[in-house]
Amino acid sequence: MARKIRMTVNGEKRQLEVEDNELLAEVLRDNLGLTGVKMGCESGNCGVCTIVMEGEAVLSCSILAPQADGSEIITVEGLSKMHEGEGLHPIQEAFIDNHGVQCGYCTPGFLMSTYALLKENSNPSEDEIRKAVAGNLCRCTGYDKIIKSIKSASEMMDG
Ligand code: FES
Ligand code: FES
Repeated sequence: MARKIRMTVNGEKRQLEVEDNELLAEVLRDNLGLTGVKMGCESGNCGVCTIVMEGEAVLSCSILAPQADGSEIITVEGLSKMHEGEGLHPIQEAFIDNHGVQCGYCTPGFLMSTYALLKENSNPSEDEIRKAVAGNLCRCTGYDKIIKSIKSASEMMDG
């Protein structure tokens, strides 16, 4: 059955018609063109579909679109708007500077998990960082450069 939902996505109010069984990830990608929301396992195991919903990092492949009705969502496309300066968000800058990106497929998910973490905890320990991104898989970097990127982002933002 189709139903109307309303969401605020990257600061813009959106009204959409969705099917009961449509995934939020599909709706963000296919209906709103937000293809920075990646699809991988589609079963909650890889983290590439991570977005921020109501301030929490969530897996958009594990949420039905109707469940997002009324919510506030940030995807990687909106990340650069979530800070006061111009240009890329400091988290994005830190990933570039510290070589936290190789093929880039996992990157939007890591960025959004990092954003949610640093909103809650501006100076996380390495353990806290590793725990926060434990659900995000990366086949390229071996993780160390990603952890370094997140630490560097926290220092840039905290300072
Ligand atoms: S696509 Fe959502 S966790 Fe893998
Ligand atoms: S950079 Fe390629 S999967 Fe992470």
